[in-house]
Amino acid sequence: MSNKKMRIVCLSFGINVLLCSSVAANNSQICTQCNLPQLDSFLQQYCTKHNNTKSLKLDGSCCINTSSSTKTEQIIGVDLSDCKLSKISGLVNNLHNLKVLLLDKNVDLQIEDTDFNGLSHLEYMSLPETLECPGGNNSWRSDDVTDNTRICKDEINLCQQNNITCPNENSECVLVGPGEMECLCLPGYHGYKCLRKVS
Ligand SMILES: *[C@@H]1O[C@H](CO)[C@@H](O)[C@H](O)[C@H]1NC(C)=O
Ligand SMILES: *[C@@H]1O[C@H](CO)[C@@H](O)[C@H](O)[C@H]1NC(C)=O
Ligand SMILES: *[C@@H]1O[C@H](CO)[C@@H](O)[C@H](O)[C@H]1NC(C)=O
Ligand SMILES: *[C@@H]1O[C@H](CO)[C@@H](O)[C@H](O)[C@H]1NC(C)=O
Ligand SMILES: *[C@@H]1O[C@H](CO)[C@@H](O)[C@H](O)[C@H]1NC(C)=O
Repeated sequence: MSNKKMRIVCLSFGINVLLCSSVAANNSQICTQCNLPQLDSFLQQYCTKHNNTKSLKLDGSCCINTSSSTKTEQIIGVDLSDCKLSKISGLVNNLHNLKVLLLDKNVDLQIEDTDFNGLSHLEYMSLPETLECPGGNNSWRSDDVTDNTRICKDEINLCQQNNITCPNENSECVLVGPGEMECLCLPGYHGYKCLRKVS
């Protein structure tokens, strides 16, 4: 058992759930800064396999959801493996729809849990085997090493698993990243202790 403590940050004011969804990131940079994925890479397979809405496309090292019901194109997968990265601070926090993140074969990579804040839908993440799954392995459905690569699969929604209730009735526990929970105001409420109604 990983004994890393779960972090619960309760914000009683100022932050609204809606705040998390905005920010149209400029995608082009992250999709072109690394090597192109090899043919039939995990990301390519994922992108092809999950294309039932016919809205996914591969672009550089990204798998992008171009569904017209989402106003902006959403990056759902990015392959940054073998990219000579030593840190990724600030690189992926805005990619709230990310489901696949490949970071293996970056031998000098150092990570911090905060590097993954904003990512609450990760289904598959690869890391050099010496690194731990962010949030500790209790924040993931599985944590396995094969071929010098650590695979962290399926973020666990710790709010649900631990049945966490927030102190203010107009707020709810929201998973904001691996092992990271916050009490955010429900839609329609904001301000001190989420007591103000949005007019
Ligand atoms: C995104 O970034 C690229 C290069 O950094 C730039 O050329 C492009 O104009 C930007 N696009 C938007 C929509 O900001
Ligand atoms: C997804 O389906 C569309 C429509 O058939 C196709 O144009 C696109 O190339 C597919 N994307 C992937 C990643 O296979
Ligand atoms: C693409 O976006 C649509 C609309 O938001 C969503 O229904 C679909 O599940 C997304 N596809 C993937 C693979 O995330
Ligand atoms: C977490 O790590 C411990 C020790 O390395 C291991 O025994 C346990 O099976 C791991 N848990 C998961 C969910 O992979
Ligand atoms: C979760 O907490 C609520 C309120 O305390 C309680 O009514 C419910 O039975 C709990 N559910 C589980 C699965 O523990």
